[in-house]
Amino acid sequence: MGTGSGKGKVILFGEHFVVYGLPALAAGIASETTARLTRVRSFGHSLVDNRPAMPGYKKEKYEEQKASLEMILKHLNIDTTRVGFQIDLEGDLVCASGIGASAASCVAIVRALNDEFKLGLNDEQVNEAAYEGEKGYHGTPSGLDNTVSTYGGLVWFERDLSGGPPKFKRLNLDRAMHLVIAATGITASTKVVVDDVRAKKEADPEWFESISKVYKQLVQNAKESLIKLDVQKVGDLMNDNHELLQQLTVSSRQLDNMVRIARENGAVGSKITGTGRGGNIIALAPDERTMKKIVTALENAKAAGVWTTTFGL
Ligand code: MEV
Repeated sequence: MGTGSGKGKVILFGEHFVVYGLPALAAGIASETTARLTRVRSFGHSLVDNRPAMPGYKKEKYEEQKASLEMILKHLNIDTTRVGFQIDLEGDLVCASGIGASAASCVAIVRALNDEFKLGLNDEQVNEAAYEGEKGYHGTPSGLDNTVSTYGGLVWFERDLSGGPPKFKRLNLDRAMHLVIAATGITASTKVVVDDVRAKKEADPEWFESISKVYKQLVQNAKESLIKLDVQKVGDLMNDNHELLQQLTVSSRQLDNMVRIARENGAVGSKITGTGRGGNIIALAPDERTMKKIVTALENAKAAGVWTTTFGL
């Protein structure tokens, strides 16, 4: 039997912008997806998906998940006309758009294959194979999700637009930051939303250039403020990033409402995390007590799921 796991993630700054080579900051969370690979007597492969998920999530992602697995098998040269196995996906990461569920499952599957077939892949190669799998979910992934899912931690990430390996660096803060994650319960297609943003960019390159410039300065400030542990400033910048995402048209009434509730209940900053048009928001809390207050407020507002996590250490 082969086993593997991949972490969920939150994007703190830079979803969508990262696709176009701008830097992003993201963090792995404690929840993860696990994959267990069991050999069977007949040739071929099957996938049993027992991950906890938002209603409708698995159905929405079913075809993409199939394509993703084929891409991973092809990349790793595993010919299932000659071997047979079943992969069971489990773990405590609740699948919802924006939490890195697809990347976490790709990393977990690659690691389980690596384990069972003794492929000898190191983390860098696991990450590369998971990136191929991410292409099944959307044609042009930045590579951010699979990188954070592979390595965990707080990561500064830049995609290489000429096709080379991405640049990424682990950031270690002197203390952990408290974060609330809340789900709308709506599953968005990353492919559709990324394609829409690309169409808007192509229709008005000057507009995209000007907001990219604003974002570029914002993410530099965010990195410096995180290192200085200036929670208030990091929160302000998250709010500014949310506004830029609104301009990219990836927010929604539900997301804006949850962001507002989080801010009204003490979050120093709150924004969409991930693809948008559904999925999740994150809210930065100045301390643990406020974090609990934000959780209660979002639960009372009937968010489809509310979780807490820390990042930075
Ligand atoms: C999805 O989690 C993040 C996006 O920026 C797409 C990507 O980075 O590939 C929307």
